[in-house]
Formats: sequence, C-alpha cells, structure tokens
Amino acid sequence: MGNMAETIIAANWKMHKTIGQSIEFARSLKDALSKKPVSAAIVIAPPFTSLGALKLELKDSAVLLAGQNMNAVPQGAMTGEISGEMLLDAGCKYCILGHSERRLHFGEDDRLINAKVIAALECGLKPVFCIGEKLAEREAAATLQVISRQLKEGLNKVSAGDIKKIVIAYEPVWAIGTGKTATPQQAQEVHLFIRKFLNEIYGEKEVAGVSLIYGGSVNAENIDSLMAQTEISGVLVGSASLDLASFLRIINFQ
Ligand code: PGA
Repeated sequence: MGNMAETIIAANWKMHKTIGQSIEFARSLKDALSKKPVSAAIVIAPPFTSLGALKLELKDSAVLLAGQNMNAVPQGAMTGEISGEMLLDAGCKYCILGHSERRLHFGEDDRLINAKVIAALECGLKPVFCIGEKLAEREAAATLQVISRQLKEGLNKVSAGDIKKIVIAYEPVWAIGTGKTATPQQAQEVHLFIRKFLNEIYGEKEVAGVSLIYGGSVNAENIDSLMAQTEISGVLVGSASLDLASFLRIINFQ
C-alpha cells in the first residue's frame, strides 16, 4: 500500500459453497466486522446461486458483492448466461472479468473480455479486470509483453473517465491455486509496470485512484509482506478465502 487507491480485499469463491454455507460465512464475517471493523473494502464473489441470499444477509454491512463472470450482451437467448443487469439486481457492485480460468477453460480472449469490461461499465458495475502471464511466458521473459497486450486489448475504448471505476487484478497464472506466490518484489515490479502503462494512456491524475490488486495463492502467511508493497493496493483471494479464520487474518493484514 502507499498510493491513494482504495484498498480492496476480494474473495473469489469460484465453484464453492452452497447457499447455506455462503450465508453462514457471511453471518460470521459480519459479526467479526461489527466487533472489529477494517478500513479495506471487503468484496465477496460467491457462486451466482448464493448472490440473492447474500444480498439480504449483507444488506446492512460494509461487505460488497461481485459476480465471477457475466455475458457482454444485456439480455437475450443466451442459455446458461448471466447479464450485468442481473448481477446488479442480485446486489453486486463489482464483476470479476478475464479471470485466467475463464481464459483457459472457456476460451475467453482479450477481445471478448474487452466487450465484457465495456458492458459492465455501461450498466454501472465495476470490473475487476484480471491479467497475468503463464509460467512459460515468464520463463521466456515475456511477462511485461503479455501484460501490455492484455491491458491494451482488454481496456480498448475505456475512457479516461472510466478507468478509475476499474480494479486491475494482476494474477500470474502460475501462482493461482498452486501454492506458489509471486514474491512481493515480483508482484510490486509488475504492478509498477501496470501503473506506468496506464499513466501513459490515461494520465497520472486519472490513474492515481485505480486499485491494483494481486492474486495467486494469497494466504494468511504471505498477506502482510504483499500488502507492505507500495503498489499493491489489495488482493484477490481464492482458496484462502473459503475458510473464515484465514480470510479474517487476511482482511486484518498488518
Ligand atoms: P488462489 O486463487 O488464491 O486459490 O490462488 C486466486 C484467484 O484465482 O483469484
């Protein structure tokens, strides 16, 4: 931390937790926060099926909701899909877009992700736009090249006025669900590159408020050293967000 961007701790539950389990987690989290509030914005991206129940459960709390994905089309014959309006209606303020699992398992490319980013902004959702290199790309020293392409194409036609509504999540693919975290220095280096890249397009003033968050095997043990970096304004947490005790330790980072 260290810049003027908002601190965001986001939980990505992926395909985990029933409605009952989601409510139980949210209730205990709310309880813990009422006893010991935190200054970071806390965001939970549960499976779609839990959103409606969590909207009610978290109504009077500071915890915010996110979708894990959405379709770029506002409505229509799209069996199995969910629109941005539906996410807003179900209580979401954010939507994760371009997650590497979407890129890998569902063939999402930069162009499609860009269409989703634009659609989210149009309907008033804040995109949590995910980028990150694969292991082979890092080993081939192509990390910054990949990041540049993903930023350029994924943010195509995003205006200077809209850039501050976007949260950028740097998630090196080799660190997701593998237990291998980028070192705080590796994460800081890429975050710095992202901020400079955005500064050139949008100008420092607009970009200063953009939160750059890190994701990939974040846990209770490594959170403090990650958050100590000036360019890391938050984290996107998968597995370690499923367990309340470890998530509480993460949101209470020091
Ligand atoms: P992980 O997942 O914390 O389990 O590595 C992070 C993510 O995919 O957002």
